[in-house]
Amino acid sequence: MHRWTTADIPPQPGKLALVTGANSGVGFHAALELARAGAQVILGCRNFDKAAAARQRILAQVPAAQLEPAALDLASLASIRAFAQAFLAQQRILDLLVNNAGVMALPTRQLTADGFELQIGTNHLGHFALTGLLLPAILTAPAARIVTVSSIAHRGGSIRFDDLNWTHDYQPWPAYRQTKLANLYFAFELDRRLRATHPNVASIAVHPGVANTNLFASGPGQKKNLEGLLVPFFISIIGQSEQQGALPTLYGATSPEARSGHFYGPHGFREMRGYPVEVRAEAQAYDEVAAARLWNLSEELTGVRYQF
Ligand SMILES: NC(=O)c1ccc[n+]([C@@H]2O[C@H](COP(=O)([O-])OP(=O)(O)OC[C@H]3O[C@@H](n4cnc5c(N)ncnc54)[C@H](OP(=O)(O)O)[C@@H]3O)[C@@H](O)[C@H]2O)c1
Repeated sequence: MHRWTTADIPPQPGKLALVTGANSGVGFHAALELARAGAQVILGCRNFDKAAAARQRILAQVPAAQLEPAALDLASLASIRAFAQAFLAQQRILDLLVNNAGVMALPTRQLTADGFELQIGTNHLGHFALTGLLLPAILTAPAARIVTVSSIAHRGGSIRFDDLNWTHDYQPWPAYRQTKLANLYFAFELDRRLRATHPNVASIAVHPGVANTNLFASGPGQKKNLEGLLVPFFISIIGQSEQQGALPTLYGATSPEARSGHFYGPHGFREMRGYPVEVRAEAQAYDEVAAARLWNLSEELTGVRYQF
């Protein structure tokens, strides 16, 4: 097996990329390596200061990096709309969108600015709205990619169509699993819809395996019990590095072998670590009826209607 690494990233000059959640973990390392390969990278972060700080950290490693810090809070439709409006007003073409930002297994139910449960609001609905609003700038690119970061946690997940926002019986892990299955429904449904009219745009799903990022301390690590202590500790032992965790994202974003409608993750035991290969999602992730149902619900909740 060829071990795909950052050395395999084809040169990216002239490409414009947007990475959400680019100040930490997988998103930071994806942005860093895309910039190193010559892409111009917009660092979409919860606020401008975090994006500016990420820019400085990347410049310290890649002084010639072309980076644009941007405030882009995925937990606020107003922030997403403001970002997209400003972007479209510049009449630019977006070659690569990496839907990466995420929160995981928050101990208590929290809400986005629009009243969505924070995990589904950030991980799925925010990216659904962002992608739909930016679509005009993506469809005009000669060869564009939309990479959506899911997880092995999609397995055993289910979509609560009657209560997507967990107004009853909130459970941190099932709420997270729902979002990561939603990421796959979205990526695969987007592929099916693009395929008909825009073969120049690929929708690719990826997952990082288990990577030792802030995700664990900022989510389950907030719990004031044994789980809160053990989860981040356990991950620091079994997790692969942030750099390694970013490889499937970078593969989906740049490899000529990566194909629309397909899913990529690490090759190792239970896809927890290793080098990027094509992987198979759980069977339910390919359920076209459920994916279309979630698409319609997402349009309704966000008010963003896709126009292909
Ligand atoms: N690490 C793993 O083992 C693993 C496994 C499977 C899937 N994933 C997925 O990988 C993706 C990246 O996670 P990570 O592991 O790299 O964790 P991370 O280091 O915590 O990074 C998550 C990023 O998302 C950002 N974010 C969270 N809420 C946001 C919001 N409302 N608006 C904008 N940005 C927001 C965070 O910003 P702040 O720093 O401001 O919070 C941070 O930059 C997530 O989608 C996650 O579900 C990770």
